[in-house]
Amino acid sequence: MKGIILAGGNGTRLYPMTKVVSKQLLPIYDKPLIYYPLSVLMLAGIREILIISTDLDKPAYERLLGNGDSIGLKISYTVQERPRGLADAFILGESFIGSDSVCLILGDNVFYGQDLTKVLNKATELKEGAIIFGYPVKDARAFGVVEFNKANNVVSIEEKPENPKSNYAVPGIYFYDNSVIEIAKNVKPSIRGEIEITSVNNKYLENKKLKVILLGRGMAWLDTGTPEGLLKAAEYVEAVQSRQGFYIACLEEIAWRRGFISDEQFMAIGESLKMTDYGQYVLSLLLESDFGK
Ligand code: TTP
Repeated sequence: MKGIILAGGNGTRLYPMTKVVSKQLLPIYDKPLIYYPLSVLMLAGIREILIISTDLDKPAYERLLGNGDSIGLKISYTVQERPRGLADAFILGESFIGSDSVCLILGDNVFYGQDLTKVLNKATELKEGAIIFGYPVKDARAFGVVEFNKANNVVSIEEKPENPKSNYAVPGIYFYDNSVIEIAKNVKPSIRGEIEITSVNNKYLENKKLKVILLGRGMAWLDTGTPEGLLKAAEYVEAVQSRQGFYIACLEEIAWRRGFISDEQFMAIGESLKMTDYGQYVLSLLLESDFGK
């Protein structure tokens, strides 16, 4: 399975912060926002990843993450000229996806919590159809809302409904089989001129091939599209990290634990960053492990 991170957009709700810096490069506490969705793809075991950004921001993402080699990934980049909608990812990513299935994650979505890896691993087993997620929210009116039956088959999805049929919002991570490319190509732009992911999901629903996995209350899903959202996400990360001592979205740690990189490569990363808390954290993980014993 391939992975796509959509990191374009205008980030207008974050102006003037995003006037010259791409939203997904802004910090969430101690790391750039894009680390968080990238960590989710890595936890899902996905190692071939396409990052879609604006033309202007592409060099910055390339500087930040390179070809992914140092963390055992294969990262490539492509440009979205203007925000044409989320489903554009599958058109821009056609040759990257090839004949594979694909996971799309939005570059500004943060997920963290118990069982995340288990949930993701279940989704990557997808052979046919599509999987979306449902996350309980107090007020679902601002989101895509999913209604489902006892077998977790989706009954309806509505975009920002006045009267939501459930309190489950659809977060920004989606798994599709290869037919998503053709489906996306045939989506007609909405009134706001975007090719909507909800239209793609509705096509799968029409074909009776759309499943939902419900995320429980132990999972955090944080949206970072507004200044308040950014701050709350940063506070959340700081609180968890300082309390537990475990980092959220330390890409090098995930790469090491999942066997994408060796102990020696991990050690070299820790050494090169040892003047920072981040580097000290990496080295402490090695010390606690059996490495060198
Ligand atoms: P949005 O938050 O819907 O859009 P935005 O980031 O441009 O922000 P604003 O509404 O403040 O102008 O986008 C969600 C995520 O998807 C975000 O990470 C940007 C990305 N995105 C693209 O890369 N291309 C697109 O065409 C769209 C619509 C979004």
